[in-house]
Amino acid sequence: MNILLLGSGGREHAYAYFISQSSLLNKLFIAPGNAGTSFVGENVDLNPLNFEEVWNFCIAQKIDLLVPGNEDPLCAGITDFIQVKNEEIGSRKVVVAGPDQFCSQLEGSKDFAKEFMVDHQIPTAKYQTFDEHNLSSSDAFLASLEPPYVLKADGLAAGKGVIITEDLQEAKNVLNQMILGKMFGQSSSKVVVEEFLKGIEISVFAVSDGDDYKILGSAKDYKRIFDHDLGPNTGGMGAISPVPFADISFMKKVEDDIIRPTFKGLAEKGHPFRGFLFLGLMNVNGEPKVIEYNVRMGDPETEAIFPRLECDMIELLLSIAKGGISEIDFELKPQTAATVFSVAGGYPSSVEKGHEISFTSPKIAGKMPDQDGYIFHAGTKLADQKIVTNGGRVIAVTYLGDSIIDATEKAYELLSKVQFEGKFNRTDIGKDLLKFTQ
Ligand code: AMP
Ligand code: GLY
Repeated sequence: MNILLLGSGGREHAYAYFISQSSLLNKLFIAPGNAGTSFVGENVDLNPLNFEEVWNFCIAQKIDLLVPGNEDPLCAGITDFIQVKNEEIGSRKVVVAGPDQFCSQLEGSKDFAKEFMVDHQIPTAKYQTFDEHNLSSSDAFLASLEPPYVLKADGLAAGKGVIITEDLQEAKNVLNQMILGKMFGQSSSKVVVEEFLKGIEISVFAVSDGDDYKILGSAKDYKRIFDHDLGPNTGGMGAISPVPFADISFMKKVEDDIIRPTFKGLAEKGHPFRGFLFLGLMNVNGEPKVIEYNVRMGDPETEAIFPRLECDMIELLLSIAKGGISEIDFELKPQTAATVFSVAGGYPSSVEKGHEISFTSPKIAGKMPDQDGYIFHAGTKLADQKIVTNGGRVIAVTYLGDSIIDATEKAYELLSKVQFEGKFNRTDIGKDLLKFTQ
């Protein structure tokens, strides 16, 4: 089996590492990859959004399976594109482990996602969508909501398109700036205005082959740069999986009220979902409500969840594309995974790059020998045989343990062996969850 994986973050190194552990693998390519992925496959200089280039590479290298790591190629329609190319040559040469462009609108358009949820009675915050044509009616809707006010750019905005403000006048001004001032370009030509949900955030992951699905469990992401959830948002500073308050009854509600109706609703529209579904949820007094859908795995949640999966990663990815997910051997380890990211000095605003990374431990990527610890590269690259920093989030460390305390202590111990100039990490990953474990 020859595989092309698209992306370059910690999520993609986790994919690459577990793909490399499968006996089904012949050759793995990663575009563009990072230093970590280069230890388990061959990095290639391809633009994942240049679909012709991706297709030509697939044919030249006899790729069987294409795995998009992030949302950009999915929302731009790579799955449909490859399908058309297969039809043109008259055989299903390349299969894609990811949803089609219709399903990807769940992530690519907040308005599409909200309308879908309302149509299928999936619990979510009350909302209305505005654009330049109905902007004048937004005052009345805003006035009907309790503060704070939540404004969301409809399209992809690299995680920055959500603005929450306590002040009604400011909400009106920002809404104007988003729609008329093109604050997020075309992405904010439509804006979803919604009710603020009070509760604790949690992510739940599922994977489907279009017919059946498996639940990959829950995770909590730590988005702010500093301890105690202070400072600006980042791509994610760490994760814990599973989340202790996501007990059997909560997860049953998520499955019955959200996951099953989502997959059923898409299938009824003629677009069965084939891929990873990532639900951003708010636990509102024990009731899960959807804040957002993503149509791919999360980063850093993947680095916490994949080490807990007991299955052949290639079998799982192939089943997404070809069906048969119900037949694969699949278990989720009961242990807790703690992931902590080390980030570059200056992150998340300006980022220092090019500092050499040293590892006092003998193994520098993937699973640590004889341990339940993993090192996943993100913003790293090889330069003159050295591994150097090459982005904001640099290295994620994951440890599996018997409890949150056990897993986080071991993760921090492993992270202390990774050194580079300007290195920074949060020191409180998982601490807020301890109150749910007593
Ligand atoms: P999103 O990009 O939709 O995930 O939104 C970014 C962040 O804004 C979420 O992770 C939440 O912390 C927050 N958020 C979004 N929607 C709401 C809401 N309706 N109520 C409360 N917080 C929200
Ligand atoms: N961890 C959040 C995301 O991947 O979108």
